[in-house]
Amino acid sequence: MNCKITGKKIKPFMSFGKMPIANGFLKKKDFKNEFFFEMEVGFSKEISLFQLNNHPNPKLMFNKNYPFFTGSSKVMVKHFANYAKWIKNNYFNHTKNLIEIGSNDGTFLKNFNSNKIKNIGFEPSKNVADIATKNGVKTINKFFNYKNVSKLKNLKNKTDIICAANAICHVPNLKDLIYGIDFLLNKNGVFIFEEPYLGSMFKKVSYDQIYDEHIFMFSGTAVKKIFDLFDMELIDLIKQPTHGGSMRYVVARKGQRDRSKSLSNILDEEKLNNLDNYKFCEQFKMNCENSRHRLKKLLKNFKKDGKKIAGYAATSKSTTVLNYCKIGTDIIDYICDTTDEKINKYSPGMHIPIAPIKHFRENVPDIAYLFAWNHKQEIFNKEKEFISKKGKWISHVDL
Ligand code: TYD
Repeated sequence: MNCKITGKKIKPFMSFGKMPIANGFLKKKDFKNEFFFEMEVGFSKEISLFQLNNHPNPKLMFNKNYPFFTGSSKVMVKHFANYAKWIKNNYFNHTKNLIEIGSNDGTFLKNFNSNKIKNIGFEPSKNVADIATKNGVKTINKFFNYKNVSKLKNLKNKTDIICAANAICHVPNLKDLIYGIDFLLNKNGVFIFEEPYLGSMFKKVSYDQIYDEHIFMFSGTAVKKIFDLFDMELIDLIKQPTHGGSMRYVVARKGQRDRSKSLSNILDEEKLNNLDNYKFCEQFKMNCENSRHRLKKLLKNFKKDGKKIAGYAATSKSTTVLNYCKIGTDIIDYICDTTDEKINKYSPGMHIPIAPIKHFRENVPDIAYLFAWNHKQEIFNKEKEFISKKGKWISHVDL
């Protein structure tokens, strides 16, 4: 395996086994043609970058059937309104234009429509891009890569802000994406992005953040080292509560902007937790194996006691848990979810049926496995009746 940035050889330190497409919810007739890949992860010593070895072609995931809609979580809609407000407060200074990478259904960019700045989203998945367009968000239905970006000649070195959320870790050719940013960004421009954070994944043992779409799991140290190679620099780091612990990164051209005071504190904290070196990988691997062992034992005991178990929220993350721990319909009867595109299909790999939320309320299980543990508060508020009926929430992370 070679590091996707430096090209240097790295040894995968663990495999999660054969994995299907995390968002590849499928019909019975498609079971026999399901795609699997060996999900191995490695760590680049030089730039402290945690990454997947093999990954499917992005076109297999981001196409006309992408079943993830940012607007499906009220908390996330609010988060994106706050993210936009933060950008306006901190980085709006003669700003004329802003580009979002991976703009999904336009939830984030909608917040800029009242400002007189030009905003454009790049979104490769046609179904979600169409929703954004319908919502009045200008969307280019293409991947953000150098080839597509360099066609925007009038924005060459004239773009003030490029931003993203939960999108950059999806891009295997990260170098090419950075060339695209370099093409667009003006001298004083900033690239702001937030992603699930390696430090949180390590602390929570939330290994389910690793799946085909998440090629990288970033830390401040890794992002600093990556952009140093491209004559840019990390100038700020801000922790975020989203996705069970994320980080917002701010990058500028080298020497053009001041670095924040909190930057070195977070980088020091990462050093202390060994996130900058291989030691953390050994520990993480052990933690994942222990977590799997504990979970299997817990579920087995529930079944022995005759408990009915359902899954709550058919997340991409659930695909990693179910396939890594080999949990099928012998343990979980169904997974309920709000997404029309997933309902009446089956979960990738382990083929657990997906049902509407109504089914959960009408067929109340004894135990609900919360796969969207990152949306815990929103879901607990909606499902108060489950608790009052003596239902029990569980997950592989602490709830
Ligand atoms: P998320 O954790 O954002 O998913 P992923 O792991 O794919 O990034 O959760 C999104 C999924 O959870 C989506 O399928 C919808 C479902 N969901 C519910 O069913 N009910 C809810 O209240 C919420 C917030 C999400």
